[in-house]
Amino acid sequence: MRDLQVGLIGLGVVGTGTFEVLRRNQDEIRRRAGRGIAVRMVSRRDVAKAREIVGDAAEVVADPMTVATHPEIDIVVELIGGVERARELVLAAIGAGKHVVTANKALLAVHGTEIFEAARAKGVVVAFEAAVAGGIPIIKALREGLTANRIEWLAGIINGTTNFILSEMRSKGLDFGSVLAEAQRLGYAEADPTFDIEGVDAAHKATIMSAIAFGVPVQFSRCHVEGISSLQAADIRYAEQLGYRIKLLGVTRRRQHGIELRVHPTLIPATRLIANVEGAMNAVVVHGDAVGTTLYYGKGAGAEPTASAVIADLVDVTRLHTADPDHRVPHLAFQPGAMADTPI
Ligand code: HSE
Repeated sequence: MRDLQVGLIGLGVVGTGTFEVLRRNQDEIRRRAGRGIAVRMVSRRDVAKAREIVGDAAEVVADPMTVATHPEIDIVVELIGGVERARELVLAAIGAGKHVVTANKALLAVHGTEIFEAARAKGVVVAFEAAVAGGIPIIKALREGLTANRIEWLAGIINGTTNFILSEMRSKGLDFGSVLAEAQRLGYAEADPTFDIEGVDAAHKATIMSAIAFGVPVQFSRCHVEGISSLQAADIRYAEQLGYRIKLLGVTRRRQHGIELRVHPTLIPATRLIANVEGAMNAVVVHGDAVGTTLYYGKGAGAEPTASAVIADLVDVTRLHTADPDHRVPHLAFQPGAMADTPI
């Protein structure tokens, strides 16, 4: 069977990570998916740079629309970020009958309803594990692992940049401005850090999780959003003296007459697990009526953690494409051919 043909739109940090992990782990991925997954085409404005990265393994083009609509591409992976251009590309790919994998939380939080409706009408899948909490498989947990539950609430540290800033302010007693500059120097915060520090990025992710947990449409405009830019070192010190840590949380909760959806700095007792999530890490706590409280922790950003989530989606979509019933669902135990010669 021919490999599934992937078109990568955007060959930046995550695109390059996706290309590398697909290549490095190709045998495992083929075995688990039941079919190979090959990057057939990539787009990047700097074509020469892209050629340096992919060599002759994939065709390189400058125009992302070529990838989105190319007849030989089965799955389009959108990794350019931003909203309006990404929306055009994703809708064009869906219109051309492609499945789409995206890491773009802003796109889904703002235009998710339109995009999912277009995909439903066309009979294709839009998968987005990488859009929330990077490498933590929280979308799968909500959709699959916890599917028996009535979700009561979830709360998460879903922005690594602000968690890094708050951790540094607390441990070193520094003020917000100097830690932000350090975060930018280390590459955690964007050159324009507004979406991170004002809570917008976390609100995009909370909005997506809320829609999945409670089956409501994505409604980013109704999320209460408050960031950390007005916090001072003294706030963090006083919180500590009272036995609390300050964390930027995204919270969504079922109420009697609706759904709560909010992002804001929150006082958390210092003894709680989530209060001890430090640095540029993410963690999400989900409470379901049957399972009780569960906790998911890991890297919420970065090339390979995010690639891990992108490729999980690619494998899922590949499984939908294969007629082999062995691969319709993930293997629960032994994988034929996997580590067959390894003594145990
Ligand atoms: N700016 C985001 C963060 C990147 O700091 O978590 C991942 O979405």
